[in-house]
Amino acid sequence: MSAPDDLRSELAELARQARAWVEWVADSGVDELPRATEAPSAARQPVVEQPPVTAPSEDASPATQPPVAVAPRPPKQARAVTPKPAAPRRAAPSIDVPDTPAARAARLAELADEVSGCTKCGLHETRQNTVFGRGSPAAKLVFVSEGPGANEDAQGVPFVGKAGQLLDRMIAAMGYQRDEVYICNVVKCRPPRNRKPEPDEMAACLPYLHEQLALLEPQVIVCLGATGVEGLLGSSMGITRMRGTWKLYRGRIPLMPTFHPAYLLRQPEKKREVWDDLQQVMKRLGMDPKAKSQRSGEDGD
Ligand code: URA
Repeated sequence: MSAPDDLRSELAELARQARAWVEWVADSGVDELPRATEAPSAARQPVVEQPPVTAPSEDASPATQPPVAVAPRPPKQARAVTPKPAAPRRAAPSIDVPDTPAARAARLAELADEVSGCTKCGLHETRQNTVFGRGSPAAKLVFVSEGPGANEDAQGVPFVGKAGQLLDRMIAAMGYQRDEVYICNVVKCRPPRNRKPEPDEMAACLPYLHEQLALLEPQVIVCLGATGVEGLLGSSMGITRMRGTWKLYRGRIPLMPTFHPAYLLRQPEKKREVWDDLQQVMKRLGMDPKAKSQRSGEDGD
């Protein structure tokens, strides 16, 4: 490609990013440009930004955090700082993670099929469809939310309603294509009237999510709202206190809690904080928010 072509495609990419950002803040009332990630808010991050500083609660009840051991695979890339594994405190049944990406993708599809016939909790009685997940089995970034709503139940796909459109804009503003990331929920069936899933429903469904994450082995997990953090880490702290602070899933995978897109639809001024959180995530993934072209060519593993 000639130099002018390079320049043109870089300008097109910058324009695409700017458009994604403008769409994301369109109704937020936020009128300033994003800060550089090198200057994180001192108020929220008084200590060091990396590596992740908060370990998951090991005291989580077995109902919300069943012990699972996953055979470690070599990291996909050396760029991200990999936190040291936490010493396991108890014997854990292991999830069998196939060696190859193709075999992991096949197991993911098989698991989705198993979930489609699941009757482990009462939620199956009122569902139209199970909602397993969407996105790339090779995703480095996985979003975990609470559970499907009415649109998702009708279509069998997560985040297809208004909150989903906002999430898609968040993903685009980060510089990702919609299907480059992976999106899933703690429970795979819609709780009636969109209520929070009950502890027994979460406990019944969580083994699916743990296996899903073991097969995906993302570099970063973003929890949208408190329920994802509660399911994965057993922490019941409010999302307002947790957001913006790194946690660890299974002692290894950095996890960033942030606000749920449905909350942002009601409180658009909170997008500013979510964008701060997502910038931390981009940085952790080795993406400089100011130079997204870095990322090209790195997605094929
Ligand atoms: N809200 C969620 O938590 N999950 C979805 O899939 C859709 C809306």
